[in-house]
Amino acid sequence: MSPTDVTLLRELLTHGPEPVPGPRLAKLLGGVSRVAVWHHLQKLTREGCAIEAIPSRGYRLGSPAAVRLHAALLHAHLPRQRRPHLICLDTVDSTNSEAERRLAAGEPVPLVILAREQTKGRGRRGRPWHSAANGNLYSTFVFRPETDPARLQDFTLWMGLAVCSLIESFTRVRPGLKWPNDVLLDGRKIGGMLTEARVDADQVRDLVYGLGLNLNGRAADFPPELRGVATSLAEVTGAPLDLNKFAAALVSHLLRAYEQFFAGTYRTSFAELWARYDILRGRPVTVIQGTRTVRGTAEGIDAEGSLLVHTARGETERFRAGEVTLGKDAA
Ligand code: BTN
Repeated sequence: MSPTDVTLLRELLTHGPEPVPGPRLAKLLGGVSRVAVWHHLQKLTREGCAIEAIPSRGYRLGSPAAVRLHAALLHAHLPRQRRPHLICLDTVDSTNSEAERRLAAGEPVPLVILAREQTKGRGRRGRPWHSAANGNLYSTFVFRPETDPARLQDFTLWMGLAVCSLIESFTRVRPGLKWPNDVLLDGRKIGGMLTEARVDADQVRDLVYGLGLNLNGRAADFPPELRGVATSLAEVTGAPLDLNKFAAALVSHLLRAYEQFFAGTYRTSFAELWARYDILRGRPVTVIQGTRTVRGTAEGIDAEGSLLVHTARGETERFRAGEVTLGKDAA
């Protein structure tokens, strides 16, 4: 990704639907020729940026729907003060696995890895995560918090709440969080989180937070076995999302959520956000933890982020981990 690309794209973004004259872009690039500008914009168009030339008026960005994940365009959307170490890949086995390799190579953190496609996307419990290149987003955020592992208890829940609030502010539809790691919309899964940590001498050394979000994929893009249980934001809202704008907002929002988490300031809004996005409270659930299956009614979470389930025997059971299915007879 070249700084020139980012400069050009930021200028086009600033002007929205208004075309920017070629000479203005040429001047912005330090007085290059208009032909050089044209060549540059052609290259960006070939990369998927859909730049339109308006005769005698200049250039503008075309419909965001036509744009795929593009590193320079994503950077152009980021606020100037928020420039993380950001890697944008066309394809990778798994962004979480890539994170591990980069941590082993000593890359600085915070590090964000985004990909258009994964060939071995990983879900919880060793399950695969469907990761086709169809307008969805695969991301990993990498930190070195050097903290007590016990502090991470509600980390994934907090990040999930941040994801839900960003989606709601972007689309005006309200997703829900299904404890402990699913993002749902209209009863179907649009996202999943996979947090992996390496602990050295009782300290969390590496913290790898992976997030898969079904944004612009179509129902037909999902394999048949997922069609009933998964959907995408675009399927529900009926309109594709501006992928690069959303990805930039996601990066800023989640880096801030991480800072709030470790500063402890997240506590002031956690309960309110949990009440807004928790989709289990008051509903019948089946929880599977190891070989145990417990049925009851979800009662929210405790201060550590464990799920509370009120059983038919009148007891409240507490789960630090587990698989939850909605409905008493499920599983
Ligand atoms: C789940 O619901 O089981 C968790 C799914 C997590 C998927 C994301 S996609 C980005 C990151 N890379 C991976 O291989 N997995 C996570």
